[in-house]
Amino acid sequence: MWRLIFSFRKILLVRRIEEYLNKLVVAKKISNAHDFPSNRIFLVDHHVCHAASAYRTSGLGRALVITIDGSGDGYSTVVYKGGDGNLEFIAGASEEASLGKLYSNVTLGLGFKKLSDEGKVMGLAACGNPDLFYPIIDEAIRVVDIDRLHFEKKYDLVGNGFARLIKNEYLKRFTREDIAAATQRKFEETVIAIVKHFVDKTGIRHVVFAGGAASNVLMNQKVRELDIVDGLYVFPNMGDGGLSAGAALEVCYWQTHKNSISKIDDVYWGPEYSNEEIREAISRNGLKADWVDKIDDKIAGLICEGYLVARVQGRMEFGPRALGNRSVLALPSSREVVERINKLFKRDEFMPFAPSILEDCAPVYLEKYSYSPFMVETFSVKREFLDKFPAVIHVDGTLRPQVVRREVNPGYWNIIKKVGDISSFYIVLNTSYNMHGEPIVCSPQDAINTFLASGIDYLALGNYLLSGNQVYV
Ligand SMILES: [Fe+2]
Repeated sequence: MWRLIFSFRKILLVRRIEEYLNKLVVAKKISNAHDFPSNRIFLVDHHVCHAASAYRTSGLGRALVITIDGSGDGYSTVVYKGGDGNLEFIAGASEEASLGKLYSNVTLGLGFKKLSDEGKVMGLAACGNPDLFYPIIDEAIRVVDIDRLHFEKKYDLVGNGFARLIKNEYLKRFTREDIAAATQRKFEETVIAIVKHFVDKTGIRHVVFAGGAASNVLMNQKVRELDIVDGLYVFPNMGDGGLSAGAALEVCYWQTHKNSISKIDDVYWGPEYSNEEIREAISRNGLKADWVDKIDDKIAGLICEGYLVARVQGRMEFGPRALGNRSVLALPSSREVVERINKLFKRDEFMPFAPSILEDCAPVYLEKYSYSPFMVETFSVKREFLDKFPAVIHVDGTLRPQVVRREVNPGYWNIIKKVGDISSFYIVLNTSYNMHGEPIVCSPQDAINTFLASGIDYLALGNYLLSGNQVYV
């Protein structure tokens, strides 16, 4: 037995050395191709990047840092202890027994797009009975030694063998909803077990998450609500899109040895465009637009009249969520708006959209409230509001809010305030401004292309307002 464990560790060690040497080769190629000094190229492990992105933007000196994704540099789940700026590796799960890959296999097996539609499986979960498929999914990955994050897997998760099994066999005996519900339960139970064990072991009650699986907003809610957890922070660009930020922050720490932990208030880190650039783009496309001095007041009025309004203002958001600056906005008071947005933007969402809520009102509408500015976790809606915002509340009574603080985005805050003054509820539906399958718009030209392709009612582009009824000059 010990000989077996020893030889397994030796294989892992050899693999790590191979991976490191491969990275050195890549670094050399980059250096040669771009005439960039090789001593300024730093190799940062995949999960260290995830961990650094979350820990170094959390504002927390001490934190239990957990990264969960499909795989990266040999690991799928890693636990670190963050303290005084340092990230200490505690345990890592292999990429073969990956919780992220388990979820992706189910996504693929249910007929969705792997590494893209996992959120749809999470949405379906609320409509199924988790008990029926649970005995099967429970065997797919089992915890053998939680302290070492040693999991045992029954099925092929790397080569999508489990996805084929679901598609060819289990879907004949179970509904998609029941398979999704059992998968979500298994995922939540396993992550909660990891959190509980390492909170207990380290005594650290503040948890920070990153990695693609940290986009599972229902799981995040369950972890946040644990009695043993004092606070949860999820990096807003939790998937591999956030690796660049994590790598930069980590190398900065290595170089300066300064405790480089800060708390981010927003992720409006992308490009912005002047009204002059916007005017030129509108003119270049031969479009008709009106200049509006108080554009945010105008947007609020149009939303309250029942129109869909795209707002493209200021700096673009970093990460997967539009947080008001590249967003489609609408009243959340009717479910029909969901179908209308799906039709215009050629989407196939069956989930409700997410809302933006004024900070003062969020604790009024939501149970167990804590400040949540990045749409990374769900909250249960208080009973008396369940029928008030049907376009943004899921069948399980949860919503995924962006809580808007005035000083973080004054213009957007003003829109929601004005909408609330008219409609009585300080909440708007907010979905990203892009056609299905395309990235969120960035430039004025992107915004115009999507305006013409979708036929949305209004586009507020800087201080210019374009109406879907009067498109061309
Ligand atoms: Fe990753």
